[in-house]
Amino acid sequence: MKIKVLGINGSARRRGNTSIMINEALQGASELKDVETEYIALAEHKILGGCLACYICHKEPSLEKLCRGYKEPDDVNMIVRKMLEAEAWIIGTPVYFGGMTAQLKALIDRTHPVQPCGRAFRNKVCGVVTMAVERAGGAEATMDDIRHWLGNMDAIYIGSGPARPTPACGSFWGAQGVQGWPNYIPTTKPEARSAVKQDIIGMQAARNLGRRVVDLAKAVKAGYASLGEGETYWGYGPVIEIHGGKYDKYQEK
Ligand SMILES: Cc1cc2nc3c(=O)[nH]c(=O)nc-3n(C[C@H](O)[C@H](O)[C@H](O)COP(=O)(O)O)c2cc1C
Repeated sequence: MKIKVLGINGSARRRGNTSIMINEALQGASELKDVETEYIALAEHKILGGCLACYICHKEPSLEKLCRGYKEPDDVNMIVRKMLEAEAWIIGTPVYFGGMTAQLKALIDRTHPVQPCGRAFRNKVCGVVTMAVERAGGAEATMDDIRHWLGNMDAIYIGSGPARPTPACGSFWGAQGVQGWPNYIPTTKPEARSAVKQDIIGMQAARNLGRRVVDLAKAVKAGYASLGEGETYWGYGPVIEIHGGKYDKYQEK
């Protein structure tokens, strides 16, 4: 069963620790059978800003058009389309003042158009990766914030627990990377941008998170495929609705 895993890096730095962690997770994912991965760094894309609350997307729901709030085009709708196509995501962000970056928050808020389109993110499986300079720098608060959005979208938030199958330090709520000392100042130094490689626990947690995301995404997809008509209330959600035309039926109800 084929699964696509999309990695999204919310860091302001296109090449930094968050990039390393997400790619470690994607590496873990791609080692499993029938997995395609793709990686996007928000820092390489044009994002004009967050949701403008114009509600055009709710007045005229469209998975084709998505966000129409900005006069000037940017890359957000293209990224959201990629999110719709993938069965699973690894979303990563550095911790900025105890939360996610403005870039990632802008993307998340602009997934608003997906809501009125039959909750098209339903049953997407998401693993979250955070990067912080401090061991207690706000990783869990950041993960929690992302989890709230996933709950709203009917998507599935997962951690990987201990490194399976052997007991080890894991990532109950997601993979937390610690950049650590002494490579923090100045952060522009190449050693600082890749310091997370020294965080063996964080790197292993990321790899396992990637594997776990694939396992669950396959199980969810296979589970829905084995169920007949009328056996579930909402169905699988995104892929079926978009590619099987069920989205229109949803609109008629
Ligand atoms: C604006 C800003 C705010 C930050 N706030 C925190 C913080 O609250 N807690 C923390 O541990 N690190 C904080 N950091 C440090 C980054 O999370 C850390 O350097 C991370 O490794 C950067 O990831 P990157 O290499 O992908 O850019 C902050 C960095 C910036 C630029």
